[in-house]
Amino acid sequence: MLQLQKVSLEIQGDIDFEILKNINLEFHEKKIYVVTGPNGGGKSSLAKTIMGVYNPTSGQILLDGIDITVKNITDRARLGIGYAFQSPPRFKGIKVKELLKMAASHNPEKVNICDLLYDVGLCAQDYLNRDVDTSLSGGEMKRIEIATVLARNLKVAVFDEPEAGIDLWSFQKLAETFKNIHSKYDTTIILISHQERIMELADEIIIMSNGTVSAQSERDIILAGIMNNDSCACSAKCVKGVGQNAECVG
Ligand SMILES: Nc1ncnc2c1ncn2[C@@H]1O[C@H](COP(=O)(O)OP(=O)(O)O)[C@@H](O)[C@H]1O
Ligand SMILES: [Mg+2]
Repeated sequence: MLQLQKVSLEIQGDIDFEILKNINLEFHEKKIYVVTGPNGGGKSSLAKTIMGVYNPTSGQILLDGIDITVKNITDRARLGIGYAFQSPPRFKGIKVKELLKMAASHNPEKVNICDLLYDVGLCAQDYLNRDVDTSLSGGEMKRIEIATVLARNLKVAVFDEPEAGIDLWSFQKLAETFKNIHSKYDTTIILISHQERIMELADEIIIMSNGTVSAQSERDIILAGIMNNDSCACSAKCVKGVGQNAECVG
């Protein structure tokens, strides 16, 4: 349904730098994908390229067979691709119910915002009239953002490290939330995450390192590989216990 074909992304500067290298990926309807891998591997850049924040230097992005490679963020949002920020923005003077109504306003299917809050594990009576400001905890804000994504009835929702900044207790509930919404909504979910609990939700796991897809497979196959692999992303000359730097020795 969403396809990336030979997508490369180069940032031009003093030295040109290729962030994404010849990425081929297919995301299917109603599935959960988890993208993981070492820091700097290109995960957020992939998310931003899907959203239209970055335009690929070469390659194509297709949504339901239609070429959206040169479409901007607004066009892609209209077509049903949404992106949940790592740190959701807060808006002074807006109430939770107003934010959700705004998000739902372009959804041709009527959504009940109380049900939406319930789906993300928040009691509507307690939250509808709360301000979307710093009085909400990180976990509450993430849930409200997930509710706004659901209100839009998206085809593809990308969540960049939804666990970031969330305490362990809220995080357990957040993982349950993703599980519940998956059984209820048709959205294809792409989760960028390092957390095993989130990976356990995946139909497929994609590992990105050094700007490439280094592995992609069903969840259990990849998880078994991760558990058995003690290699690191260091260069070949970097050997554990041997180093020019005194701090590395011993
Ligand atoms: N706008 C940018 N300009 C220059 N380098 C960038 C830019 N965005 C990302 N990068 C670099 O691209 C690489 C991949 O970054 P990113 O996609 O954020 O990785 P990840 O999300 O997997 O940690 C990193 O080396 C990062 O420093
Ligand atoms: Mg990132």
